[in-house]
Amino acid sequence: MLIIEFICSAFILFAIYLACSCLWHERKARVPPVPVLPHVKRRALKLALKHTDASAPYKIIDLGCGWGGVMLSLARVYKKATITGYEISPWPYRFAKLRTALKGKRVRVRRQNIFDADISDQDIIYCYLHPETLKELRPVFETLKPGALIISCSFPIPEWTAIAREDVAGVVNIPIFIYKINEKK
Ligand SMILES: C[S@@+](CC[C@H](N)C(=O)[O-])C[C@H]1O[C@@H](n2cnc3c(N)ncnc32)[C@H](O)[C@@H]1O
Repeated sequence: MLIIEFICSAFILFAIYLACSCLWHERKARVPPVPVLPHVKRRALKLALKHTDASAPYKIIDLGCGWGGVMLSLARVYKKATITGYEISPWPYRFAKLRTALKGKRVRVRRQNIFDADISDQDIIYCYLHPETLKELRPVFETLKPGALIISCSFPIPEWTAIAREDVAGVVNIPIFIYKINEKK
């Protein structure tokens, strides 16, 4: 009985610590490490596939990869792609690293601020970020090569024109935006 009580207490304490750590890092990230809903993720990938080739050896980035779920889905869809995730929050980063470990060098997770990353050679950029972060990222997106694709879940890149938009109906309507470099206005 004492052991069970000890395990339960340790589990609760760890959960509290985890929540506090995520909240603390939310100050920089502006958003909690909440994963995109599975059905929204599926629709985003389906939409991205209309504008890309699943068999191409793309370089793909998840800007703010959270717990790594999107990276794994991207790796399943784009079998020859190299996928990199950037995450600022330590626990989601550790979890994503663990989750993607079996994928080898094809899927990498970095604990790094996305504003310090060089993404200029990437072909596909996936993000589910705060609108203010997307606004600040615009100069970074400007460095992308022509033809690079940006998939943004929930929020648009301010003042940019998407080449495609899909609204995923549910309790709340969640839009997905696709941008192509050089096709923006
Ligand atoms: C809403 S979650 C999305 C997680 C995952 N990409 C998905 O779609 O399921 C956004 C993530 O971006 C991370 N993030 C936000 N700003 C960041 C930054 N400047 N550098 C690195 N990670 C950041 C947050 O910590 C959070 O885990």
